[in-house]
Amino acid sequence: MLVSAKQMMKDARAGHYAIGAFNLNNLEWTKAVLQAAQEKNAPVIVQVSEGAGKYMDGFKNVADIVNNVIAYQNITVPVALHLDHGTYDGCKACIDAGFSSIMFDGSSLPFEENVAKTKELVAICEEKGMSIEAEVGAIGGEEDGVVGMGECADPDECKKIADLGITMLAAGIGNIHGVYPEGWPGLRFDVLEAIKSKVGEMPLVLHGGSGIPDEMVQQAIKLGISKINVNTECQIAFAKATRAYIEAGKDQAGKGFDPRKLLAPGSAAIVDMVKYKIDVFGSANKA
Ligand code: 13P
Repeated sequence: MLVSAKQMMKDARAGHYAIGAFNLNNLEWTKAVLQAAQEKNAPVIVQVSEGAGKYMDGFKNVADIVNNVIAYQNITVPVALHLDHGTYDGCKACIDAGFSSIMFDGSSLPFEENVAKTKELVAICEEKGMSIEAEVGAIGGEEDGVVGMGECADPDECKKIADLGITMLAAGIGNIHGVYPEGWPGLRFDVLEAIKSKVGEMPLVLHGGSGIPDEMVQQAIKLGISKINVNTECQIAFAKATRAYIEAGKDQAGKGFDPRKLLAPGSAAIVDMVKYKIDVFGSANKA
């Protein structure tokens, strides 16, 4: 059964570790992420962007797949199904589809509109027992064709949004989605400290969790990061293992072209990556 991310966020914030939030892309991803979380005895958030939701033939299908894999694999760790970077309408659709958590990303809207829409969705989530993430200050890099500039969030705006009753807050601290460019100066711990001093115990979310050095991630966790989003590193691990399989000619040997064989090394690589991240985030054995 899916749970909201409320309790896991509270526990992570109080226990100084972070919950891994892994983006799903298809059935293989769903199986691999849930298997890894179970093997690590770690609470986990699985999430889709609106683009990935479309790719997987709709949010209802995503919810069904996640629920069915939980049942089939006898997953007992807490699992939240979350919408990543939702629009207002996308949030509504995921609430209807049975998600247990949403992110409303109003960071590209005028601030007052972000506040108003976030507030409205907080009320709906409260009524349904769902968790809600909000965002202040766009996060750089590319996500579903939307490119931000890697700005840092304004701590006063963070405080205003945090006070609306959200579960967790995503705020730009120099992080970027996708592969970090050569010469990236690193996370802005000064900004993170300034945000933390305004929002207190509010769990903070680090987007663009792929490719940040482990020590930097752990420092961020010490400063209040309680949810870390990872997508690109799992995609790269999957692609690399699949490439090695094909380059070794294995798809041309025997029935190596069978998707159950062809996609197995990539799936195993996702399991390994998720387990590695869970160890770095400190959420192993916190289920
Ligand atoms: P990466 O693809 O950089 O890991 O970022 C994932 C993310 O933040 C999704 O919102």
